[in-house]
Amino acid sequence: MNTLMRGCDEESLRLGAQLIKQGGLVAFPTETVYGLGGDGLNPHAVQAIYAAKGRPADNPLIEHIADYGMLELLVQTTPEPARRAMEAFWPGPLTCVLPATARVPRAVTAGLDTVAVRWPEHPVAQALILQAGVPVAAPSANASGRPSPTCAQDVWEDMEGRIPLILDGGPCRVGVESTVVAFSGERPMILRPGGITREALESLLGPVDVHQSALNALQEPSAAPSPGMRHRHYAPKAQVTVVRGPGALERMLAAYDACQAAGGVPWLLISEMARSRCGERRLMSYGEGAAQLAAHLFHSLRLIDAKGATHIYCLAVDPQGMGLAAMNRLLRAADFDVMDPQEEDGR
Ligand code: TXA
Ligand code: MG
Repeated sequence: MNTLMRGCDEESLRLGAQLIKQGGLVAFPTETVYGLGGDGLNPHAVQAIYAAKGRPADNPLIEHIADYGMLELLVQTTPEPARRAMEAFWPGPLTCVLPATARVPRAVTAGLDTVAVRWPEHPVAQALILQAGVPVAAPSANASGRPSPTCAQDVWEDMEGRIPLILDGGPCRVGVESTVVAFSGERPMILRPGGITREALESLLGPVDVHQSALNALQEPSAAPSPGMRHRHYAPKAQVTVVRGPGALERMLAAYDACQAAGGVPWLLISEMARSRCGERRLMSYGEGAAQLAAHLFHSLRLIDAKGATHIYCLAVDPQGMGLAAMNRLLRAADFDVMDPQEEDGR
């Protein structure tokens, strides 16, 4: 298949909307990461999404909407806390898991009786959904298991030859995916941390739980409340190691040097402030603070991979605010390889 990469002018948007109406797939920008969209009411289009990504069939998709009429097509009921969260954070990087109607194809929910819905903020995403006139089912537009794409070039790397159209809307602002929240229990529960922080949700709704898989490997894969958490995620080709605890910077530099001496090609992913302490070592700076780490993590992993790295070392950040989403993605990219002398079973 020939893949077109186009800007986001009116004609390209019209072409994208037409493709979606006909059951085709379009990669498009959102404020979080690029999505791989198809008609969310058409089971064949949904199947094509799984095929293009090589995505396991048990990992359900998010339906993207651009008005409340589309929400009514998809969900049976909206509990009060979910309604308030939607009013406060939509359009934006919040995904609500709610009871699904019979209109939602089984392939979207992977057989669950709930559906995940989000109203993205990005104007191109909204225009595409409105012109297509249907909810758009869209996972992140990466090949399954790879870091999510945060620019059109990253989508091209994974999807060239597999889909007809990529809409290039420049780099994504947030850089990690939406926050997925379930509203079925007594308290709302964050199943996947993301662009809306726990603190922001709590200031609106009171206490919000965070599923223990946010920062820990699942002991029992079948216990995943969000099936996507069972699978290996966000993995670059290089081995990623997260370093935390006392003296983390010095220990990271020592690990780098040992890797180098053993014939490896180590890289550091590091904050702007720490870079001057790393000497002549190979490094990439993500900027400063957790939100910048979140914004640049996926693209940095891809860039460092392209340089032929065998190992990538990155310091942990405090899991507060956007730090929770950043650490969730970083730990998964590392397959939970953590150097921490305070954890007896840390390695
Ligand atoms: O920001 C985002 O959310 C991006 C952009 C494109 O909107 N999309 C995205 O989709 O990240 P994806 O497919 O990569 O991740 C969807 C997540 C998975 O962890 C999946 O398991 C979870 O949402 N999910 C979907 N439906 C669910 C459901 N009914 N119950 C629990 N989790 C669900
Ligand atoms: Mg994804």
